[in-house]
Amino acid sequence: MLKRTHTCGDLNLEQVGQTAILNGWVDAWRDFGGLVFIDVRDRYGITQVVFEPEVGEELQARARDLRAEFVIGVKGVVAKRLPGKDNPKLSTGQIELRVAELEIFNATPTPPFEIQGPEPNEELRLKYRYLDLRRPSVQQIFILRHKMAQVMRNTMSSLGFLEVETPILGRSTPEGARDFLVPSRVHPSHFYALPQSPQLYKQVLMVAGFDRYFQIARCFRDEDLRASRQPEFTQLDIEMSFVEDEDVLATMEGLVLALSQEFTGVTLSLPLPRNDYYDMMERFGSDRPDLRYDLQLKDVADLAAETDFKVFQLAKEAGHRIRGLCASGGAEKYSRKDLDGLTEYASRFGAKGLVWLKVDNETMTGPTAKFFTPEVQAKLRERFSAKAGDLILIVADSQAVTSQALSNLRARLALELNMYDPKSFHYSWVVRFPLLHWDADANRYVAEHHPFTMPLAEDLHLLDTDPAKVRAQAYDLVINGEEAAGGTIRIHDSKIQAKVFGLLGLSPEEAEEKFGFLLGALKNGAPPHGGIAFGFDRLVMLYAGLTNIRDCIAFPKTAKGTDLMTGAPGTVDAKQLRELHVKSTE
Ligand code: AMO
Ligand code: AMP
Repeated sequence: MLKRTHTCGDLNLEQVGQTAILNGWVDAWRDFGGLVFIDVRDRYGITQVVFEPEVGEELQARARDLRAEFVIGVKGVVAKRLPGKDNPKLSTGQIELRVAELEIFNATPTPPFEIQGPEPNEELRLKYRYLDLRRPSVQQIFILRHKMAQVMRNTMSSLGFLEVETPILGRSTPEGARDFLVPSRVHPSHFYALPQSPQLYKQVLMVAGFDRYFQIARCFRDEDLRASRQPEFTQLDIEMSFVEDEDVLATMEGLVLALSQEFTGVTLSLPLPRNDYYDMMERFGSDRPDLRYDLQLKDVADLAAETDFKVFQLAKEAGHRIRGLCASGGAEKYSRKDLDGLTEYASRFGAKGLVWLKVDNETMTGPTAKFFTPEVQAKLRERFSAKAGDLILIVADSQAVTSQALSNLRARLALELNMYDPKSFHYSWVVRFPLLHWDADANRYVAEHHPFTMPLAEDLHLLDTDPAKVRAQAYDLVINGEEAAGGTIRIHDSKIQAKVFGLLGLSPEEAEEKFGFLLGALKNGAPPHGGIAFGFDRLVMLYAGLTNIRDCIAFPKTAKGTDLMTGAPGTVDAKQLRELHVKSTE
């Protein structure tokens, strides 16, 4: 075998005159009668190799038969390219390999798409993932992912954290999403659950005295998928002992600083902003607002009350909110048809309509402008600091719907009106989330994060009187409108834990049955502790400038949860099912 002495990215003028062997895939070929040029590609680069007439008819003929993606080895002498033939785009662009020997390792059929051609559709990319992953732009993402994992491991180690692995086959953990279950062969009707996160194990590790733990951990959640969600994903999972929330935040800022420096070249100024959850919900309608731009929501219920627009009157009677935002330059940018598009967009988030007002020097225009008297218009202008050319959008609906619709409109307007540099980064913490929310269907409170989250000390008294108002020692790291990490300080006091279980509708027996092992551990010397988990895939997505999480996972699932390459999920033999004591209802 012609075994490589160099990669396809190695050779340059320094090796001129030396003999070298390259291995790789045929990227392109050009046949100029006497001269046959082949570009050989591997993950390090591309090198041009040339078969000159001197090599003889037979070898030239074999070179002429090479096609895209053949796997070859070539041996030859490194030579400076002829004047004017340099390719400044390649690191090897000043040289070529004058070939003396060729070995074809694999002749391949015509690939379903060109490796260096235009982006194939995603279905093809996922079905032929081995070809898709051969594309240099895709390989760059995984090289970045590898480097990020290295920086994470090194930084965590240097901060005194120990990497500990936790089981994949475990018990269901109370994290909110649906579990993936694995039937036990040995124990009929018993199931393992794949971990939604290592949450309970890492708390047990704190009880065991490990003090500072981390793991790059696989997590599994059977939930509806979105652009930034996968059924299996990776967390940088962290837990610390003898800490309060500020200690976790400050320690994590060390990691965020290292990542930012290494992958964006920006030295962050610390501490990062700590924003209050309720303030974010009020000003941006989201607990993970993109703060690369301002564009705040304003309450206009008082002004709406001065109109005789029926929509607003009905909203007031229903106890709904009337909120809006004002986009600078939006009046010129959006035609009537575009505004119908924005209205349709808002309706996807539950809005029953969208009031739009184009602001000019004197007045405001729009289908509902007639309801706004000159006095109300003047007040609206003032509320939004609006000027000519701006666009005001108003939604009347529940707190949840106005938040959803307007926060999504906010993101869309900012993008379409170029309100920020898409290559820039903004990092902030969102803190003091609510501990619980009321689930009307279940007729009980549900944990916002998980049942072991510690309430804020100053809100503890509200557990008895007004549980929905209790705030938690919980924090999320938001980067460019994505939830990049989330965590909490945990309860280590069994009385508080019992109270929270009560609110969640869990009797002591049920709590014991569900997570007795954790409660047992917590009783046996639990230190004050807390932690956080970063969504590793989301971080790669952000630093690679991607918008879809699938692009930074080597073998991702489609939105329907299938793997187009392997065909998973697939059927299994009746015998396998029998062994597992499982009967299909199909
Ligand atoms: P949480 O559920 O907030 O917390 O998850 C932490 C981070 O993981 C990422 N993430 C996901 N990424 C891709 N696909 C998904 N389906 C997905 N779900 C979550 C997000 C999120 O911020 N055990 C707790 C952490 C703790 O309290 O320490 C936990 O898992 O970036
Ligand atoms: P309608 O009375 O449904 O014909 O609506 C009149 C106008 O009010 C249309 O421009 C709608 O888009 C807008 N509208 C209707 N409902 C709402 C709402 N809940 N919030 C904001 N605008 C609305």
